Amino acid sequence: MSTKYKIINVVGARPNFMKIAPIMEAMRKEPSFEPLLTHTGQHYDEEMSKLFFQQLEIPKPDIDLEVGSASHAQQTAEIMRRFEPVLLEHKPRLVVVVGDVNSTIACTLVATKLHIKVAHVEAGLRSFDRSMPEEINRLLTDAISDYLFITEGSAHQNLVREGIPEHKIHFVGNVMIDTLLKNSRQAATSPILQQLGLDNGQDYAVLTLHRPGNVDFKDTLERILTAIHEVARRLPVIFPVHPRTKKQIQQFGLEYMLSPAATNPPPAACPPGIYYVNPLGYLDFLRLTSKAKLVLTDSGGLQEETTVLGIPCITLRENTERPVTVSRGTNVIVGTDRERIIAESQKALSGRAKKGQIPEKWDGLAADRIVQVLKQGIA
Ligand code: UD1
Repeated sequence: MSTKYKIINVVGARPNFMKIAPIMEAMRKEPSFEPLLTHTGQHYDEEMSKLFFQQLEIPKPDIDLEVGSASHAQQTAEIMRRFEPVLLEHKPRLVVVVGDVNSTIACTLVATKLHIKVAHVEAGLRSFDRSMPEEINRLLTDAISDYLFITEGSAHQNLVREGIPEHKIHFVGNVMIDTLLKNSRQAATSPILQQLGLDNGQDYAVLTLHRPGNVDFKDTLERILTAIHEVARRLPVIFPVHPRTKKQIQQFGLEYMLSPAATNPPPAACPPGIYYVNPLGYLDFLRLTSKAKLVLTDSGGLQEETTVLGIPCITLRENTERPVTVSRGTNVIVGTDRERIIAESQKALSGRAKKGQIPEKWDGLAADRIVQVLKQGIA
């Protein structure tokens, strides 16, 4: 009988799901691999988790750790505590982690201490802002992983500067874009534009906000929403609200700045204003962003997706760990200054946004490249 290598893939939070989908698919086609999926349960709501499994056809997790929400220390520790027995039982040849969430570092740390090799997908990205929890997760994960799969050239420079040997670094492209390209036809059938009264060809913008630095402080959140209010005088701004942000908006009493989106019955047209909706599934969100005139966001993944879609992206942060989206793509880093948000939005709305190009190897084949590297490495 030929040898099968057991590989444990880890997901935890929403942005992990679109990254693991193509990796699981490519691994399942490789006869020498036996891929298993662990869901830590960092995200657990239907619309933050289950919907993505269904729409992206991710196999049901083999192992559910069900950790839920807690402080950083408690959540990270609980994932570690529950993941260790999984590795002791299955003794995998390799653990694959993606992105930069607490689940990423927690599982990497457990595997490494048990002398199990770790592959980190989306390695080497750096915002150089250590107040972001993700930056700490990225630095630590990369320092102790064995395979570092990178999406852009800056990641190579960052890793080499941090003393990572070249042979560990593999430029494979972007698995998140594998998922986008695979699902774009399906997304075109989503009814979301009709539901929101946006299917008449009118212009609209999309807003997402969830970074603690933006939503956990009343002054900052209020300043951002005030600026978006100015933008929303010209066109509707659709705002799918992340659970963290929803909690903060309620706590700070800022609900008065937003209107509920009318979906039932759908309006004939959507007048200017900021409209909140619940977090959307992958296909609805891809449809919504792909037809938007403008996206305003503090998300990392959305900076990449808008670059591939050719949609102007205004990033409401002072930095990005994904500089290729600025140097080649449609992204502009604007911060949270009111005047800059308004000025850059107006530029985009009057058709003066920069035109981008698609970064190298963001071509839908990243997961296949990862599997090829791993096949040679672990056999
Ligand atoms: C996490 C990641 C962040 C990622 C984001 C994407 C870390 C440190 N942060 O941030 O990098 O960009 O996910 O969404 O790993 N909640 C729910 N339902 C859920 C999940 C969370 O209501 O399914 C609420 C809880 O009240 C929780 C809060 O949202 O306390 C924040 O969730 P948490 O997973 O701690 O961090 P995110 O802000 O989602």
